[in-house]
Amino acid sequence: MSTRAFIQDLAGLGGQEVELRGWLAGRRTGGKLVFALVRDGTGVCQCVVEAKTAEAFAASEKAPLESSVIVRGVPRLDERAPGGVELSVAAFSVLQGAEDYPIARKEHGIDFLMNHRHLWLRSARQTAILKVRHTIISAARRFFDERGFILTDTPIFQPGAAEGAGSLFPVEYFGDRVYLAQTGQLYLEACAMALGRVYCFGPTFRAEKSKTRRHLTEFWMIEPEIAYAELPDLMELAEAFICRLVEAALAERREELKRLERDLAPLERIAPPFPRITYTEAAELLRGDAVHARLTEELERDRARLAADAERLAALERERAAEKKAWKQEKLDREIAALRDDLREREADLANRPAHIESARNFKWGDDLGGDEETILTRQFDRPVIVTRYPRECKAFYMKPAPDDPRVVLNMDVLAPEGYGEIIGGSQREDDLDALRARMAGEGMDPAPYEWYLDLRRYGSVPHGGFGLGIERTVAWICGLRHIRETIPFPRLMGRMYP
Ligand code: 4AD
Ligand code: MG
Repeated sequence: MSTRAFIQDLAGLGGQEVELRGWLAGRRTGGKLVFALVRDGTGVCQCVVEAKTAEAFAASEKAPLESSVIVRGVPRLDERAPGGVELSVAAFSVLQGAEDYPIARKEHGIDFLMNHRHLWLRSARQTAILKVRHTIISAARRFFDERGFILTDTPIFQPGAAEGAGSLFPVEYFGDRVYLAQTGQLYLEACAMALGRVYCFGPTFRAEKSKTRRHLTEFWMIEPEIAYAELPDLMELAEAFICRLVEAALAERREELKRLERDLAPLERIAPPFPRITYTEAAELLRGDAVHARLTEELERDRARLAADAERLAALERERAAEKKAWKQEKLDREIAALRDDLREREADLANRPAHIESARNFKWGDDLGGDEETILTRQFDRPVIVTRYPRECKAFYMKPAPDDPRVVLNMDVLAPEGYGEIIGGSQREDDLDALRARMAGEGMDPAPYEWYLDLRRYGSVPHGGFGLGIERTVAWICGLRHIRETIPFPRLMGRMYP
């Protein structure tokens, strides 16, 4: 009798016969041997089938890729095998034979892959990303749980806007118009007045009409909210929180990060204290000569690198044209496709850079910090930077103006390094009834759907605040992904609803 085993546990099971249940992920044949790569979600195992086990040999030799398979055999430690263990196969059966799996080991453009996202998820790269995502979410929950925060769930159907009317998704609700949540925050403030320290974690929705590599229309946000807290408390908490997420990813997902070819050195540098600058200082930095010189230099350097890589591509293409061996052709095709995608994106980025450099130089106090400005700012620091005190016009109605300068609010954005930009937005909240009403009136907001929110300022109001961290942007940064679309199993973007 063999016991069912998961590939991740095989190393401890040497000698006993086990049964693996998974999918055929790859195969090499060498004369009297078939090397079948079987994956089961926990890992990949090289299963060695000898010609003398005739039935198993025949089945493993002809099963199409991505067939579901059940394999019996004895694990053997072998340094040469991927994962360090291989299985000497006694029986190999195909549960369902997959004919013509659409994602072959050859070139596929991003559109093709996105249309086959339900299958693309099976690839080693995608499963690595999803595992890092899992660890980040799990560490985020543990972080707040250990500190005594209470998880409170906030509604997804909401009567009004919290983050600007421009990005609301309306929903028909029994004849009324309501909206999908842009944030749980307003409700979370009510929970904080009941429980002191709370957090929510759920899907949030923004009708972002921008097709950028940072924007989803549906994303997951984890938001703490704290009674009797002021801006410095929030900054300290955000700093400890981010450090914890990076630590967890490095400790628990090193393998996956390596598979993603993430350079670990910049992550290993993440430690408190994070630099803290005000919006006004950020604006001066952007306009300054030092940044200008550095950006121009980086642009030249990246242009030279692009040219060098374009030559490398041409060389690979020549090598491919001359190659006779099928497996080597496949390998080269993959390399060429990846490099081509990479070059295309870098070229587009480089084409935009001169305009960004110019707009940074002309940045005016009062402009919002957009993605491009954030990218430039974060390149000036080797760890996340906390930017505080933005002009009130740039920010949401609920933020509290600074007592010493009412033109700015007591807010913070945390920008991730290496050009990733904002991963956290938060603030101290306006806790004074009259001030909040005046601000809402100034924004032309109808107070009716917010009466309950104003009640929080009528009955035992206290200084309080919180922040929201976008899970997908954090995963993109920690995994070192250029685009946010790979950080969530089924991304919702402007112009993408399938699958
Ligand atoms: O800065 P935002 O809009 O802040 C809020 O929603 C506050 N109510 C949070 C709070 O104080 N409780 O969004 C917070 C974070 C951003 O920093 C970003 O990481 C993420 O949510 N985010 C998005 N992620 C992906 N796609 C989008 N369209 C996003 N919009 C915001
Ligand atoms: Mg924000």
